[in-house]
Amino acid sequence: MNKINFLKESLKNIRTSGTLFPSSRFLVSKLLKGVDFKTAKLIVEFGPGNGIITNNILNSLQPDAKLIIFEINDNFYNALLKIDDNRLVVVKQSADTVIEVIKAHNFENADYIISSLPLTNMPKTITTSILNNAYNCLKSKGCFFQYQYSLTYYSNLKETFKGKISLSFESLNIPPAFIYTCQKD
Ligand SMILES: C[S@@+](CC[C@H](N)C(=O)[O-])C[C@H]1O[C@@H](n2cnc3c(N)ncnc32)[C@H](O)[C@@H]1O
Repeated sequence: MNKINFLKESLKNIRTSGTLFPSSRFLVSKLLKGVDFKTAKLIVEFGPGNGIITNNILNSLQPDAKLIIFEINDNFYNALLKIDDNRLVVVKQSADTVIEVIKAHNFENADYIISSLPLTNMPKTITTSILNNAYNCLKSKGCFFQYQYSLTYYSNLKETFKGKISLSFESLNIPPAFIYTCQKD
């Protein structure tokens, strides 16, 4: 899906999309900087939208690894289904179902979760469930990467990941974004 269609789709669903523009290549590159693609067997993505991050992950993913992505928007989901890659599983369910979905694909846990969910726009009960399930679904030393346009979720993430959280910033994005890196014990 191109940038114009992303803009139209996001305008229609601004509460769940949380932005009007897809992530810049600078943000995507910083978000994926901490991923060790040589060893990752399962990467999970929350909120792929038009697939800008998805495609970058697939470019570096090992041939025997999997990428499972969760998208609730019908039009984004249908566009994502067109990505022809047998390492990719596109799921039209909310991210909080992550544990049951990875189990259904014969995985016990994930190496990394990459999230661009608009946490601040979502009901608190859902975000709490998503963050707890993300933590539980990661393997030991696995990482959860989340970008946001504000620092509103810093304390929630710190609490969920028991303080193992670091922060970086990318100004070359509309709007500029903070990146949280949260590591499981
Ligand atoms: C800010 S957009 C990110 C798009 C793209 N990943 C990027 O970085 O440009 C957020 C995406 O999260 C999706 N989304 C919102 N709530 C969700 C949920 N509970 N589970 C899965 N996806 C969700 C929206 O439909 C939207 O595509």
